[in-house]
Amino acid sequence: MAIERTLAILKPDCVRKRLTGEVLRRIEAAGFKVCALHMQKLSRSRAEGFYEVHRERPFFSGLVDFMTSGPCVPVVLEKENAVNAFRTLIGATDPAEADEGTIRKDYADNKGENIVHGSDSAENAKNEIAYFFGEGRIPADHS
Ligand code: CMP
Repeated sequence: MAIERTLAILKPDCVRKRLTGEVLRRIEAAGFKVCALHMQKLSRSRAEGFYEVHRERPFFSGLVDFMTSGPCVPVVLEKENAVNAFRTLIGATDPAEADEGTIRKDYADNKGENIVHGSDSAENAKNEIAYFFGEGRIPADHS
């Protein structure tokens, strides 16, 4: 299985609950390498651009409200089979449906405020990483 990258976002609820360090610790303990991270407060247009595919969904404006409600932390992660491995680590979108021992099961309040985002395909991961970390924004390999 090839080394792959995925994009995580520690969402505003994660930062507000002071779980940034704990969630990153669990991610690293699961074998992911943190390649880049950048805490930032998204503008509405940046959040809308990231979630563009959901624009017509009924939850879109609430999602943008939430994602702009405080700082979040986009993170580039690397591991074998990173996209699927990360989705397994975080659990289902709705914490009520997430497996025991997953990050969302342990910390998320509901489907909207669910602590962390993870790319859902290798192709989306590439686009999402480029959205937050353009040319030169990922430091050279330090392993
Ligand atoms: P995320 O993985 O960041 O990508 C899309 C987000 O939309 C998802 O996490 C959820 O937080 C949010 N979402 C999906 N479905 C719903 C829903 N029915 N109600 C509220 N938010 C939702």
